[in-house]
Amino acid sequence: MITLANRLNTVEEYYFSSKLREVRQLAAEGNPVINMGIGSPDLSPAQDVIDAMIDAMKDENAHQYQSYQGLPELRSGIADFYHNNYGVALNPMTEILPLMGSKEGIMHISLAFLNEGDHVLIPNPGYPTYTSVTNLVGAVPVYYDLKETSNWEPDFDALEQLDLSKVKIMWIGYPHMPTGARGSLSLFEKLIAFAKKHSILLVNDNPYSFVLNDNPMSLLQVEGAKEVAMELNSLSKTFNMAGWRVGTVLGSAACIDAVLKVKSNMDSGMFFGIQKGAIAALKSDKSWFDGMNAIYKRRRVLTEQLAEKLNCKVYKEGVGLFVWAKLPEGITSSEAFIDKILHEKYIFITPGTIFGSNGEGYVRFALCVKEEKVQEAIDRF
Ligand SMILES: Cc1ncc(COP(=O)(O)O)c(C=O)c1O
Repeated sequence: MITLANRLNTVEEYYFSSKLREVRQLAAEGNPVINMGIGSPDLSPAQDVIDAMIDAMKDENAHQYQSYQGLPELRSGIADFYHNNYGVALNPMTEILPLMGSKEGIMHISLAFLNEGDHVLIPNPGYPTYTSVTNLVGAVPVYYDLKETSNWEPDFDALEQLDLSKVKIMWIGYPHMPTGARGSLSLFEKLIAFAKKHSILLVNDNPYSFVLNDNPMSLLQVEGAKEVAMELNSLSKTFNMAGWRVGTVLGSAACIDAVLKVKSNMDSGMFFGIQKGAIAALKSDKSWFDGMNAIYKRRRVLTEQLAEKLNCKVYKEGVGLFVWAKLPEGITSSEAFIDKILHEKYIFITPGTIFGSNGEGYVRFALCVKEEKVQEAIDRF
């Protein structure tokens, strides 16, 4: 009998990895499943992005290992994107590292900065990977509450009450997933001040700022942010490239260097064609965002109707790729609620509980379903 590493006792298979098996099984049995669970954009990247990838295949260097730091042209494309969209200046040589999706960055940052036993501040509710990665590296998750009554923003008095002596990293993400809370520059300023006061590395996970959001923000807009902060960004949702696996991490040269030390020991560069496609995507103009958001807006209107048909109360201020909604009065279990809908109506929505205990009583609908399918879901009730 080969024994497993102890660290595997600290994590479970990712919720979607197991739940989607159940959803697929229902579909394989011939049921008309509508999947509003996972936030995987169903729309295509722009044609010039696809063309750039195809053209790249003919380049004689296309099939070799690529630079650990990504093509210089990709890094300067990311720098231009940050400058044009967020007004943030980054040195493409030292302050930007392309990633194969921002998800891997959560692991690389954790491996670069955490020792066993270090504490990590994690939003509740929040993206489940912060917890699993923290556990995998032997650090300790310490949850901080986000509540609807505080517009899903942290309560700084409550944060100050915590024992922060062992806290090394704090994860945040605005626009927030799963709720869609926007955050604000003043919130970012307070968070940077908090991080500086307690010598905490503050990391903003920022994949949703261009979806249904008229005011994209970066944590790095705050004066002096790079002294204590890093940011993850992603092309997955912004450019419909989730399966391509392209993201980036931004921060001071010293922080990026630390992450590169980990990452360069794990992979051997990103496929050339994907980098070329990403470079083209990053050059997209306003018409790309307007076109994408017009579609998401129509879907959001219908999805809100669906949520309301289920007597859920929609968090209307939300931005990003999801509709977040509160269960009807008297219904207490998000998982029981979504299971009933899955098995009776064949519609899969995500229970708020997978994002933490403060997600109990809420559900999340992804806007990755075509309008006619959302209409069909409405018609099933
Ligand atoms: C909050 C959050 N962070 C990170 C990711 C990972 O995105 P990527 O595709 O860039 O790895 C997701 C994906 O759903 C997400 O919701």
